[in-house]
Amino acid sequence: MQSQNKFNHNTKIIGIIGHPIKHSYSPLMQNIAFELTGLNYIYLPFDIPANSLKDALKGIVALGIKGFNVTLPLKEKILPLLKDVTEEANIVGAVNTVTNEDGILRGYNTDVLGVVESLNPFKDEIAGAKISVIGAGGAARSVIYALIRNFKVGHINIINRTEQTAESLKEYFSAKMMFDNFKAFPLIPPDLVETFRDSKLIINTTSMGMYPEVDDSATTIKESFMKGQIVFDIVYNPVKTKLLRLAESQGSTIITGLKMLVEQGAKSYELWCGEKMPVEKVYRALESYLVS
Ligand code: ATR
Repeated sequence: MQSQNKFNHNTKIIGIIGHPIKHSYSPLMQNIAFELTGLNYIYLPFDIPANSLKDALKGIVALGIKGFNVTLPLKEKILPLLKDVTEEANIVGAVNTVTNEDGILRGYNTDVLGVVESLNPFKDEIAGAKISVIGAGGAARSVIYALIRNFKVGHINIINRTEQTAESLKEYFSAKMMFDNFKAFPLIPPDLVETFRDSKLIINTTSMGMYPEVDDSATTIKESFMKGQIVFDIVYNPVKTKLLRLAESQGSTIITGLKMLVEQGAKSYELWCGEKMPVEKVYRALESYLVS
């Protein structure tokens, strides 16, 4: 690794905008990546409330900031302010990554790409299969887009605390992506054992189980899971959530939220820097940080 004292007149700036910004692991992750590769970049947090977004974008262009991530509450608000937005960002309705090419700001959704990368090793198993998605917010939209567009899944259960939101999401994707094989369920764990058992892949897109609520889980019924299933949790702190521990103890294959965090970060890194992030090394560095 290089020393921290490498910054000079050639240093390129990447950032993250949102409000609040203090919970994000992206500065840590991207700066670890820049340290590992020796690229002369720095990644900085910018706390930007929604009413300053337009001014902030002008500032980013004026300062020549090369690109940035976008987090809550700006992911949706930024769409109409960008020159170009990718199809996935448009349908998901959220941008999490922007590039600045000589003042032209382009928006991407690398959450979708991170989901695709995380699920790619299981592509054959999930083609045509039944999938259960827990949650119906922004993260669920990225996951559902990826499942329909990239994996040609057979059927999607949307399971949500507020059943009406699951219904609305179902209608939204039916209209936007011509996919009708949905069923919406309320999140009532004892009633869901059969729904989970009947699913090849189960994905938690809610914040349930995230530190400090580490004892929360969409289900605590071990019969919900079995060997041959894949269980994916987008929560990355802790790396192995209660849901993942339960699934693993039943013989299911698990995919961690840390995998997803690093894969989406790697796609953003590639958009900004034009080269690949060392995904395995960054994963291991973050894992030791999160576990310790
Ligand atoms: P994100 O962009 O991270 O997906 P969001 O759009 O606010 O965030 O969506 C959060 C999702 O997690 C919602 O589906 C929410 O359920 P509701 O629609 O009922 O609000 C779900 N969620 C959050 N906390 C939850 C909890 N403690 N138990 C169950 N579901 C929860």
